[in-house]
Amino acid sequence: MTGIELMREEHKEIKRMLKIVRVISYKILKGEELDFQEFNRVIYFISNYADNHHHKKEEEILFDKMIEELGPLAKTIIKSGMLVEHDFGRLYIRDLKVALESLKKGDESSKLDIIANAISYTHLLERHIDKEDKVIYKYAERELSKNTMTILDSECFKYEENNLEEKNKCMAILKKLEKRYSEEGVL
Ligand SMILES: [Fe+2]
Ligand SMILES: [Fe+2]
Repeated sequence: MTGIELMREEHKEIKRMLKIVRVISYKILKGEELDFQEFNRVIYFISNYADNHHHKKEEEILFDKMIEELGPLAKTIIKSGMLVEHDFGRLYIRDLKVALESLKKGDESSKLDIIANAISYTHLLERHIDKEDKVIYKYAERELSKNTMTILDSECFKYEENNLEEKNKCMAILKKLEKRYSEEGVL
């Protein structure tokens, strides 16, 4: 497996969590009581796996190499496209956390902001992942030199090794949530 293939696999895992975010949001919409602890687990996965683990690898390993080696076009696509979208994702999650706190304090109308930010995040990430899978990653695989690809692979797998514990923790959260909502028949 190459470093880029590894990141494609991570996209699949992130998309599995996006489905759960939609399920939870729909439960809120239907008036079911919000499980704050459960929501915190979702946010933990998003912040530590989707953002920190995955986006960090893209930003610090893949995108850096693309900008360096592929010139102004790659720089524009990445800086004004991919990196801006990573930041929008962070903004949605920050606002989602604020809304959760506000609901905890009794403001029922915050449920609107929870649903809005959670669903906007899923839409953003779905589109973002699609773009990376179909355009950005393919562009990198096609244009980066063999030598750069070898360095990229080794940096990606070294990163995995150093962050294995955190990755396993996030995968356990994902599986637990999938099990719960599958058993409920809503996933
Ligand atoms: Fe990305
Ligand atoms: Fe990605």
